[in-house]
Formats: sequence, structure tokens, C-alpha cells
Amino acid sequence: MSVTSIKSFKANPPTLMGPGPSDVDERVLRALAQPTLGHLDPNFIGLMDETKHLLQQIFKTKNEMTMPISAPGSAGMEACFVNLVEPGDKVIVCQNGVFGGRMYQNVVRSGGEAILVEDPWGEQTKPEKLMAALAANPDTKIVAFVHAETSTGVENDAKTLCAISKEYGCLTIVDTVTSLAGIPLYVDEWQIDATYSGTQKCLSCVPGLSPVSFSELALGKIKNRKSPVQSWFLDLNLILGYWGQGTARAYHHTAPVNSIYAFHESLVAVLQEGIEDSWKRHAQTHDYLREGLESLGLNFTVDEAYRLPQLNVVRIPEGIDDAITRRRLLNEFGLEIGAGLGEFAGRVWRIGLMGSSCSKTNVDKCISALREVLGK
Ligand SMILES: Cc1ncc(COP(=O)(O)O)c(C=O)c1O
Repeated sequence: MSVTSIKSFKANPPTLMGPGPSDVDERVLRALAQPTLGHLDPNFIGLMDETKHLLQQIFKTKNEMTMPISAPGSAGMEACFVNLVEPGDKVIVCQNGVFGGRMYQNVVRSGGEAILVEDPWGEQTKPEKLMAALAANPDTKIVAFVHAETSTGVENDAKTLCAISKEYGCLTIVDTVTSLAGIPLYVDEWQIDATYSGTQKCLSCVPGLSPVSFSELALGKIKNRKSPVQSWFLDLNLILGYWGQGTARAYHHTAPVNSIYAFHESLVAVLQEGIEDSWKRHAQTHDYLREGLESLGLNFTVDEAYRLPQLNVVRIPEGIDDAITRRRLLNEFGLEIGAGLGEFAGRVWRIGLMGSSCSKTNVDKCISALREVLGK
């Protein structure tokens, strides 16, 4: 390929109704496209402080250590485990889908002793199973679980699981990648010690950052570790010098300056709507989508009592080809929905209603496209 034949890339995005990324608003893209500032420019430091403050409101926390990690949700996950798990620490991981499995791998790689509390895919983590595991392992240091399991569409009862963990004096690590801004989440009230999220789901920002928050209790454990954090880049003791309090910020890494402009704008947009109103919009639009999907004879895999509004998992009807159907939706209707993941691959579709993608207009588009491709 000669250089002269190469053209600039032009994205022509479909409507994004998969498991993320979700549609990104023009205002967020415009923020991203502003000229780049130096990562220690006082103007940018001011933006960092404001971003932390906005994020605290969305996480519903007063945690000082609330900020974005400069990498996607998986790095936020890794940041929680490599900082909090010391070699030999007993960690209970509740798993009922793909992402709980990744948490387990993180514990093992951090040198912890991982204990799995498993529930079937499509079901909630059972609090009594966690209670039994803690009773059998009272020396457990940390309990970890996923609030909104994107692979199955299940909401785990974060408030109850954290309350049980606290009875045993454990720290809690909670994955809020898909839950943040989509369903109620109260980091301080529920006693979540460490949480990580993603920008590309219900915040409708560009992918590539992971908002995190750490309690004072968690920071205490990190500051008093016997062994250094094995990851240099994700060591919070070092990141604190850049994102921590005060004006004397030291270089740690070159922040993704433009992505943080976009992130800030997406947080402003969520707070302008109101976080509670954002949760309400996700719930109401889910009800509207459910009616449409049921009118097409599609069945949800998850019980209504713990179904996520922002991630709707339906069985693929008998005789319908998964890949061909999704390709037709994309090519003929400009609509992206998600395939099944892990155990659910080829058996379900995952229809996202996240952030800006969560609108009645999008639901109408999705239902009429599905009606056509399913020949209803
Ligand atoms: C629940 C959950 N945790 C973690 C991740 C990983 O996030 P990322 O793909 O941004 O690395 C995802 C991504 O979909 C997720 O849904």
C-alpha cells in the first residue's frame, strides 16, 4: 500500500446497543477534540481536581482517592487487586459470570489465596453462600464481586454482600463497570472499599479510562503493605503523587489529557441530568424495551427481580442463526447488539441500554429492526 493511497479514517458508527461502548454524545466528542494541554499545566491540574469532585458525586462517596486510571476497566480491576492483595492474603471471589472469573485470576496472580463462591450463570450470588464461605474462612481479608455482571445481565445485591463482608471485618472490592450511572450505587453507604468502573458504558464517554475509588481503610492497607505493589504503573502509592491532594503534583505518567477532557464532560452531562434521574431513565427505558422484546416472543434469561435494566439478555430463538442475524442488523439497519460471552456464546443476545444509547428512539429502532430480521 503506497502512502498516497492511504486516506484518513472516517468512522461511520452504527447505533451502539451492545454491552459497551455506548453512543458518545457530540458534546463529549467536542470536549475531546480541544487542543492538548501539558499534563502538569495548572489549567489541567484544575480540571483533574474538578473531575475528582464530579466523580465523587457519581460514585456517592467522599473518598479522596477517587479518580480515573489511565487505561480501560480491566486496568481498574487490576489496580484494585495488585494494590490490596498481599501474598498469602485469603480473598473470597463471588463468581456468576465472566468478570468474576477475571477477578479470581487477578487474586491468583497477585499471590493471594483465592476462594470461589460460585453461582450459576444468569443467577444472583447467594448471600447465604458468601456467609457460609466466610464462616468457614474467618481469616479472609477481602471479598470481591461484580455488581452488574455484563456477561449475564444479572445485578448482584451489592449492599447485602458488603454488609455480610463487613461482619467479618473484610475489605470489599466491587466491580461497577456496567453499574455506574445505570443503577443505584452508593459507595460510602454500602461500605465499598475499592471499586473500579469504565467510561464506555452508562457514562457514555470514549473507552480507555477506568474511574476508581478507594476508602481510607483500603488506602491504609496499601500504604502499610509489607511487600511493594508488583505493578509499577498501577501502584497507588506512586499514582497518589500525581492525582493526590495539594498543588505539588509530580510526574508519574503522561495522562491521556484529551480523554480526561471528554471524561469531565461526560460527568457534567450525567450530573446535569441528575444521577437519580439517570438511574430512573435506565429503568423506564428497560420497561419499554421489555414490552417490545416480549411482543416479538423473545424471552429474558434473567429473573425480573435481579435483571439489569442497562444490559438485557434474551435467548436466541430456535432456528435463528446468531452471527447472520447480528450481521444483518449491523449492515441493513445500522444497529449493533452484543453476542453472548463465555458459556452464553451463541445462545443469547445482549442488548445494551447504556447512557446516551438508553432512549426510546433507540428502542423503537431496535424493535423494528429485530421484527424485520426475525420475520415477525
Ligand atoms: C463487568 C465488567 N468488568 C470489567 C470489564 C473490563 O472493562 P474494559 O473492557 O474496559 O477493560 C468489563 C467490560 O465489558 C465489564 O463489563
